[in-house]
Amino acid sequence: MENLRIPGPTPCPDEALQAMTKQMINHRGPEFAKILNDVTDKLKQLFQTKGDVFLLTGSGTGGLEAAIVNTLSPGDKVLSVSIGVFGERFGAIAAEFGAEVTPLSFEWGKAADAEAIRQALRAEPKIKAVLVTHNETSTGVTNDLAAISPVVKEYDKLLLVDAISSLGSINLPVDDWHCDVTVTGSQKGWMVPPGLAMVSLSQEAWQAHSKAKMPRFYWDFTKAKSYLEKGQNPWTPAISVVYALSVTLEMMLKEGLTNIIARHARVAEAARDGIKSLGLPLFAEESHASNTVTSVAASDGLDTKKMLRILREEHQVVLGGGQQRLDGKIFRIGHLGWVTEDDIKAVMSALKVALPQSGFRSAS
Ligand SMILES: Cc1ncc(COP(=O)(O)O)c(C=O)c1O
Repeated sequence: MENLRIPGPTPCPDEALQAMTKQMINHRGPEFAKILNDVTDKLKQLFQTKGDVFLLTGSGTGGLEAAIVNTLSPGDKVLSVSIGVFGERFGAIAAEFGAEVTPLSFEWGKAADAEAIRQALRAEPKIKAVLVTHNETSTGVTNDLAAISPVVKEYDKLLLVDAISSLGSINLPVDDWHCDVTVTGSQKGWMVPPGLAMVSLSQEAWQAHSKAKMPRFYWDFTKAKSYLEKGQNPWTPAISVVYALSVTLEMMLKEGLTNIIARHARVAEAARDGIKSLGLPLFAEESHASNTVTSVAASDGLDTKKMLRILREEHQVVLGGGQQRLDGKIFRIGHLGWVTEDDIKAVMSALKVALPQSGFRSAS
């Protein structure tokens, strides 16, 4: 079997795959209602929220679009904090739907600075919402949301969070950190295939929703809520992915959120240590290095494309490349969801062989 170590989609445990072979059921019947209610309750525990949580059929980007169109109106001012590809995407969605976006971008590889966010909010009192990526998958950096959130709330703004590659893997107490809309995706730490976005909403998000005028139909949270009250989704859901999620959520609660978070921290540390011992530099600033994806700077002649090919063809290890302007400049090791230190050991053993074959000239 391939050692798939990209930051999503992630490998799925056999039990999740098995669950997906189950026959279809009526998505408007009692059996599905039971599963949906159970999955929603479990998600609330892992989101650490008492607010509403919805399962949307779509990928994570759909969840980001839902966060925007359900809380904002065309012309609303938005502060878009970006530290990489996905931060830029979040701002681009808001702009596409007519928000007036003020970008606040930080050097890729570094985290956002809460003080700079404070200054931006002070400079433009009309800003209504702040968009933040909790874990920037493209650079392997985790923003300090615990520090950013109080600043956003000091100025009484909506906090919309892309937690697609962090929730369920890195600590994110949604209620304690006053996140108004929080978005994640099934193919990340949740150990199931792509197909679902999961979103949570605070009371403030509902208040904003009641006034939000951006066009929406498929993603409308009012429809999501009224159907969930009947144990349904407004539209035909990705039933097989829901089957799988019901199994992996059970596994996650059995392991316990604290243990899951600790396991991700341990595995990430093993990845960072392994990379350093191979003589490679980490790309992300270490104080904010992500516990779900490790980014590695290509240096000393390393041809990342060749290396990724050798790893895939000769070692059945699949890592991620760099995205956009980081193409060829970094590679990324995904370690979220169904992952242990042994998976990382296997990656390091393969890298040890593939690096010198890919032009890497290091003394170590
Ligand atoms: C932080 C982050 N935001 C957004 C996305 C986009 O999610 P999707 O590809 O599921 O639409 C991803 C996917 O890699 C991500 O990691």
